[in-house]
Amino acid sequence: MNFFLLSSLLKFLPLLVLCDDLQVYIVYLREHGGYNTHQEIEDTHHSYLLSVKSTEEEARASLLYSYKNSINGFSALLSVDEAALLSKRDEVVSAFPSIPNKFSLQTTRSWKFLGLEGGLGDRRRHGKRRGGLLHEAKYGKDVTVGLLDSGIWPESRSFHDNGLGPVPKKWKGICQAGDYFNASHCNRKLIGARYYLKAYEASNGPLNVSNDYRSSRDKDGHGTHTASTVGGRSVKNVAALGGFAHGTATGGAPLVRLAMYKVCWPLGGKTLEDGDTCLEADMLAAIDDAIGDGVDILSISIGSDGPIGFSEDGISVGALHAIKRNIVVSCAAGNSGPTPATVSNTAPWIITVGASSIDRVFSSPVDLGNGMKIKVIRSFQITTYFILFHHSRCFFLLGVTISSSLNIQCLPGSLWPKKMKGKIVLCFRGQGTRIGKGAEVKRAGGAAMILGNSTPNGNEIVVDAHVLPVTGVVADEALKILSYIKSTKKPTAKLNAAETVLDDSNPAPFMAGFSSTGPSLLQPNILKPDITAPGLNILAAWSETSSPTKLVSDHRRVKYNFDSGTSMACPHVAAVAALVKAVHLTWSSAAIRSAIMTTATTKNSLGKEITAASGNIANSFNYGAGHVRPTKTSDPGLVYDASYTDYLLLLCDNGVGNADPKFKCPHFKVPRSTSNLNYPSLAISSLKGSTTVKRTVTNVGGSGKTVYFSKIDQPEGFNFKINPRILYFSHVGEKKSFTIKVQKGTGKNTIGEYFFGWYLWTDGIHVVRSPIAVSAA
Ligand SMILES: *[C@@H]1O[C@H](CO)[C@@H](O)[C@H](O)[C@H]1NC(C)=O
Ligand SMILES: *[C@@H]1O[C@H](CO)[C@@H](O)[C@H](O)[C@H]1NC(C)=O
Repeated sequence: MNFFLLSSLLKFLPLLVLCDDLQVYIVYLREHGGYNTHQEIEDTHHSYLLSVKSTEEEARASLLYSYKNSINGFSALLSVDEAALLSKRDEVVSAFPSIPNKFSLQTTRSWKFLGLEGGLGDRRRHGKRRGGLLHEAKYGKDVTVGLLDSGIWPESRSFHDNGLGPVPKKWKGICQAGDYFNASHCNRKLIGARYYLKAYEASNGPLNVSNDYRSSRDKDGHGTHTASTVGGRSVKNVAALGGFAHGTATGGAPLVRLAMYKVCWPLGGKTLEDGDTCLEADMLAAIDDAIGDGVDILSISIGSDGPIGFSEDGISVGALHAIKRNIVVSCAAGNSGPTPATVSNTAPWIITVGASSIDRVFSSPVDLGNGMKIKVIRSFQITTYFILFHHSRCFFLLGVTISSSLNIQCLPGSLWPKKMKGKIVLCFRGQGTRIGKGAEVKRAGGAAMILGNSTPNGNEIVVDAHVLPVTGVVADEALKILSYIKSTKKPTAKLNAAETVLDDSNPAPFMAGFSSTGPSLLQPNILKPDITAPGLNILAAWSETSSPTKLVSDHRRVKYNFDSGTSMACPHVAAVAALVKAVHLTWSSAAIRSAIMTTATTKNSLGKEITAASGNIANSFNYGAGHVRPTKTSDPGLVYDASYTDYLLLLCDNGVGNADPKFKCPHFKVPRSTSNLNYPSLAISSLKGSTTVKRTVTNVGGSGKTVYFSKIDQPEGFNFKINPRILYFSHVGEKKSFTIKVQKGTGKNTIGEYFFGWYLWTDGIHVVRSPIAVSAA
């Protein structure tokens, strides 16, 4: 993942392109007071600008967006001093620079793996056993999912509208015309499309239309991929390049309506090969419109590379206003794992989604010249013998030892063509992109590449549409191949043709190595991420003007492509939320999240604990509540609900007291009030002595009269006590509260180290499970 590489570039961008030290700022104002017209709101925003700019003209020219539907605020070109002046005013919650966020770049099989059958096409074949959540939710037909992404390829078969009824009456969105995109590109499936680039152009200069469309059309592929993962129709006979993963492609909620809000554009005005950037001021405008348009769910596969305060993060601010309207917001956790404390999008009103594997692998064994067979995963075909090359320049000229020879990274320009011609080259993951290593081997005349995982990548084999035959091998096997190369003068190998295998002997899921992990740096008393969903090697629709590698030099075009990232996991959870919403129209976004989290599992297909890519056992900082189980989500038994007011209270505890004029923070500080948010998981950081937290559950089970018993698995070194231990319910909708007393034990608890456990409620039918993470001070 080039997550870090991108972010370091981004920091310099505003300096390079903006004159007069002006930057795009977001000035976030507290909630709209009365019932002002849009014109009145705009006038107010203008008066703010006038108070810091010298002329009327200057004030007008500096304004980019007035946020006026649900969010109150504006974005404008301001100097640091002007922003500071504005932030002193009472009505201003925060004034923060719009840092260019970037993509967390981070389907056939994934939905079957999750227990949701394929699309409508298979209805007859699966006759009896069909139904379940998809049926109950009518495949999501009256629910609208909005996506913030790189646009959409509207002609993709995944977005056809055959058989869909009229656009829902409450929909107020538009199909904004632009380059190669007009109103006729929307239909009863893709019901809305808008694009936002004012902040992008203010920071980067005019969009270079050779490199992207000035419209909602997707030149990248990412937005088409995520949109079809949420709600693509069932399309038969789909396969990736090379015929892999052949089958029927379908989104998780194949009848939902989709609305695309394009907010991501080529980084630094270059081509999409160099990456994307999505500016917060543009994203906030998109969320404000999406709320006004009437979306039910927002899927945002975009993340920042570090923690940003809840009131200074465009996604977080926008999402708070979305949940106030009961819109569920699903976001990617980020692709900076497995390094601890890298999780992004951690606001407690967002569902933060990590990425894990599915049970489909692409096997292409390697036979080494010494008779050793290496069982490996994935390649795009090759059958002839090649000489396995071992004279990599860095390898010999630097005279390094085995361990540091892992630096054979095949970075651009590093390979020596004279020695590479016709060879299979062993390269290791680490620095540089996977596809870039393949391109380097090809440039140097190599015939094929074996891409070895370095230790942090462990078992995670990412499928890419490489520009030459490539097979990926897990870290252990890569070391075996390396020692074989060193053991002989003429190493040889054969790469066998690859096959798609549904391998039930391999544990699935395991966490993707790139999936960002907790604790949340911003607020360690909220456990993040919340959940994990498939995000490794996901097949979905693609832009027909993007190559499968996104390299400009790659002229191949595909309609469906593999992609990997928490970006791919996020729309899976958005689709599940859409289905739950379709079944329970009145549930709050917190209740829907609770249903998704408390029904998740921490076990893999072998019935063992889910592991990290390294093979070690994973924990709640990797997967939150666990791996999503869609079929369980519509009947969770109990839910942990929370309201907009609860989130305002939490903001008080986090130093933001003026987000809503109708709400006043309490005068006294409630101890541990963040841990006390009625969240479906429990995080307590730096515990001194003991503390007691409170939770309230609402009975949403079918039979009103029921009894729930508690059970707890205490984190090592701590004592937990739930009171009461039994909850009696007499009717549906009834709420019952309980407390959890947490005490540092006398045994070992290494200071600062986190320990994990869980507690649950069960009535014998439902299991309502919550993960625990706790550390001592
Ligand atoms: C919209 O675009 C389509 C396809 O490019 C074209 O056929 C059609 O004439 C356009 N419609 C309008 C109203 O411009
Ligand atoms: C626009 O992009 C193209 C292709 O990357 C490049 O050749 C051209 O120089 C760019 N134009 C400007 C004005 O930067």
